Amino acid sequence: MLRCNVIASPDEPGPRLFIQGRVFANDCVAPLPGTIIDVWQSSQAGCYSVLENCPDEDPFNLRGQFLAEAGGAYSFESVMPGYYPGRCLHIHYRIAPTSGPVLVTQLYFAGDPRIPSDPFASQPGAANRIIPLVQDASGFHGTFDINLSAMSTSTDDPAEAVPTATILHPAFPNPFAGETTLRWSQALPGRAEVTVFSADGRRVRILVAEDFPAGYHTTRWDGRDDLGRALGSGIYFGRLNTGTARRTQKLLKAE
Ligand SMILES: [Fe+2]
Repeated sequence: MLRCNVIASPDEPGPRLFIQGRVFANDCVAPLPGTIIDVWQSSQAGCYSVLENCPDEDPFNLRGQFLAEAGGAYSFESVMPGYYPGRCLHIHYRIAPTSGPVLVTQLYFAGDPRIPSDPFASQPGAANRIIPLVQDASGFHGTFDINLSAMSTSTDDPAEAVPTATILHPAFPNPFAGETTLRWSQALPGRAEVTVFSADGRRVRILVAEDFPAGYHTTRWDGRDDLGRALGSGIYFGRLNTGTARRTQKLLKAE
């Protein structure tokens, strides 16, 4: 009996969605049990709790990770995703077999009127990732079989994918006068510290020090130290420390 992976909380708005399928190495011949499947999607309101600050959202809602079981089979229960600007309805997939390359792709739904204008779903190669849905009293049901060799040309919006590396991006604006924004990508959930050092190596400000989900996060620096005092113009360093990764960016504070 296939395990039921529920990735949407019971009170999540929207019709329930049930997806099942199998993962194959090639042409529906060799199933790939043990494949790690990550899925993530927007809410009905078009918001990603893992990537954005949706109001009152559990950061782990609407995303999940599970293993393909015997015969390569997998299934999960969620809600129908929502529209956001420029995109049709979709669910992101990251499919990591026990050996071989990882596939990052998206699932679409037949009959979605926004598919022709969607830059990803309208590509010719996306046709085998558009599935029909059948509705009954419990919600919508669909089958998405993943054929790793046929889908090896993965397409995804890199701005939406869960990052695979921990990176502190260049601050913006930089140089800055009033305030600058520091953005980082975090590949694994866990504690992240973002701190500011002066050019002579003194830590002058702790901006964040708490647990974060994997994803993209931002914080701001107003050019002040931990006591709220405005610091002089010059070179500073923003540092991201996740315990397993340490990244630094130069900050230029103007007058
Ligand atoms: Fe998306």
